[in-house]
Amino acid sequence: MTSVVLQVSDTHLSATHAYFTDNWQVFVDEARALGPDLVINTGDFSFNGPAVVEDLAFSHAEAERLGVPYLAVPGNHDVGEPGDNPRPKQPVNDARLANWKRYFRDDRFVRDIESWRLIGINGELLGSGLPAEEDQWTFLEISLREANDRSLGLFTHKPLFAKDPDEAASKWSTLPEPRARLLKLLKDHNARFVASGHLHRYRYISHDGIDLVWCPTTAFITPFQKDDGCIRRVGYLKWVFEGADVHHKFVEPEGFTNHDMNWKTKKSGTTIALPEKPLAAQ
Ligand SMILES: [Fe+2]
Ligand SMILES: [Fe+2]
Repeated sequence: MTSVVLQVSDTHLSATHAYFTDNWQVFVDEARALGPDLVINTGDFSFNGPAVVEDLAFSHAEAERLGVPYLAVPGNHDVGEPGDNPRPKQPVNDARLANWKRYFRDDRFVRDIESWRLIGINGELLGSGLPAEEDQWTFLEISLREANDRSLGLFTHKPLFAKDPDEAASKWSTLPEPRARLLKLLKDHNARFVASGHLHRYRYISHDGIDLVWCPTTAFITPFQKDDGCIRRVGYLKWVFEGADVHHKFVEPEGFTNHDMNWKTKKSGTTIALPEKPLAAQ
């Protein structure tokens, strides 16, 4: 038996700031045509979920249009991010978590597929100190322990690290303390891969026996001249699970546009400062 999972990430959807809905529409059409067993969105589903609940509502309505089973974990542009992250503009808090859950029901999942156990977590809780964080560690420990002989894969928004497993806290990756705890836990349970988003680029490396896979975005790219082993193009990942095996490929659908927002975001440093662009204007 074979199961297909499409991983999509960093869709940054909004009806009032509809900069990236064109690529999402292409993805919806492709997913509907392909009929995968599951779609997983690894966060930044919405444009500005922490401030605008309507962006979460819109993202959820768009997810429902997929017409196939889907799961989603939130990103920093959905629920905010941990308070001790340097310069957190939108700290994750209970109200923001409640808004996400109002639409997406939960911010984590366990899904057994073929000989695999796929676990999704809310990476923005890691290092937050919120009661929900400890609750999630317990959930993760139990989900890993009770996997029995199943192979394990983890889905989360931010990568464990961007350059180095010992790197300092930054807005690019999981904070150092929870990163170490998570790495040890995954190692102890022989996890096979961690699939993340957030960096808007595709990369595939192995670290200490665990495959680290960065899912590209469908929204906008951040071009970079040096070769750092990343593909900075819009796309999504097609995962194929076959028994205890897995492989994935980077998919770049015809009809996707590589929006380069660098020139617009350089001054403000963030997409959420972009002016309105209503959906109707598309
Ligand atoms: Fe993003
Ligand atoms: Fe993000």
